[in-house]
Amino acid sequence: MSDQKTAILSYDGKEYELPVIKGSEGEIGIDVTQLRAQSGLITFDPGYANTGSCTSNITFVDGENGILRYRGYPIEELAEHGNFIETAWLLIFGELPKKEDLTRFSALLTAEELIHEDLRHHFEGFPTHKNQPMAILSAVINALGSYHPDLYDIKNKSEFFLSVGKIISKVRTIAAFSYRKSIGRCFVYPDPDLSYCHNFLHMMFSIPYKQYDPPKEAVNALSLIFQLHADHEQNCSTSTVRMVGSTQANIFASVSSGICALWGRLHGGANAAVIEMLDHINNGDFTIDEYIEKVKKKECRLMGFGHRIYKSFDPRAKILKKATHDLLNQGFSDHQLEIAMKLEERALSDDYFIERKLYPNVDFYSGIILRALGIPVAMFPVMFAIGRMPGWIAHWYEDYTNTNTRINRPRQIYTGETTRHYVPIDFRK
Ligand code: ACO
Repeated sequence: MSDQKTAILSYDGKEYELPVIKGSEGEIGIDVTQLRAQSGLITFDPGYANTGSCTSNITFVDGENGILRYRGYPIEELAEHGNFIETAWLLIFGELPKKEDLTRFSALLTAEELIHEDLRHHFEGFPTHKNQPMAILSAVINALGSYHPDLYDIKNKSEFFLSVGKIISKVRTIAAFSYRKSIGRCFVYPDPDLSYCHNFLHMMFSIPYKQYDPPKEAVNALSLIFQLHADHEQNCSTSTVRMVGSTQANIFASVSSGICALWGRLHGGANAAVIEMLDHINNGDFTIDEYIEKVKKKECRLMGFGHRIYKSFDPRAKILKKATHDLLNQGFSDHQLEIAMKLEERALSDDYFIERKLYPNVDFYSGIILRALGIPVAMFPVMFAIGRMPGWIAHWYEDYTNTNTRINRPRQIYTGETTRHYVPIDFRK
């Protein structure tokens, strides 16, 4: 990978030669792995905006040009021709699946769709009507591991395949059960005759003696949402999964930590925050202009806008904007689309956003689609987590099978007290 170039760091009268590594798309990075040993210096980069934590073969993002590719395939092509299950296979196993791969994978997902009845009883311990499906999802995915301790230490490809099937299939069952629990409704078991997304909607919305039969547009829109969320290289939750995995923690615990990292409003919780923001505007709490002024005074953020990597546009937001229009033209309704479009237009023509290169991200339109499908707002981050699961698994496995991976352990610059001595309690001021 190295093209032999080096960077020179000059400090305190000495020079240090640091190798420069180059990725397959021409990205370059200074390799500082020997820096501290040679110079006593560490790099300081809060928020890691300039730090590469690993090399990876999974996803390529070029934020300046709005490019996103999974395993080399442009997201636009995958969105147009593929579906979530095909994309999950691609991310996890590295190639587009052949027909027989998909048949085998679908059979595994169906075989694994039920959860152990004892695990089902875990749901009883969560408070009803508190509406915390992310808490339930992360806890139950971690607990799922305790039913399969034989998979804590994955020894071969077939054990990995089985783990993938268990997590990708059961996360959907657990997510739907977490919703049912949060509204105090009975659980609806998965139906082995239904496709992945259809089955999820069935578990969410069927009631005893009345099967929910979603229109195919709803099933397709859900598949697209999962697909577009499936991976995004070293984002916060994926880095968390890799960090936890670097301790040799098992796959269930590692992806469960990803769910926790995803929860916050600056990451996977942003889709719900967008809807809250649009609700405020819709309810007349602020006009669009008033909201933009609040943002510019830094009293709040324009949710669903801005991205650490994308500095032109987020290609996922483009695809979702079109999908939102398509869905609403097909008879689904949401009163917020018009507000969202006006807000976007207003922000994109304002110097504050132009100067800072702030554009809509994947979360700006996803919430409108999810709501049109009947998914409650509290479930939005959960939907993100289901979609992101293949990416987390692919990254966990990439590290797990890399013999050069070290435990992730950043350093710090200590700014606290220097040495002082213990004072007995009667003498403390
Ligand atoms: N609204 C208003 N101002 C913003 C926004 C926003 N959404 N995002 C960034 N800015 C401003 C900051 O205030 C800062 O301004 P300054 O230079 O005057 O101080 C500048 O743009 C740079 O912002 P940072 O916070 O340094 O950017 P960072 O890369 O750390 O943050 C983030 C990225 C967290 C996504 C941010 O843009 C944000 O908070 N967006 C809103 C929440 C959101 O939509 N999150 C989802 C992201 S996508 C995902 O996780 C799937």
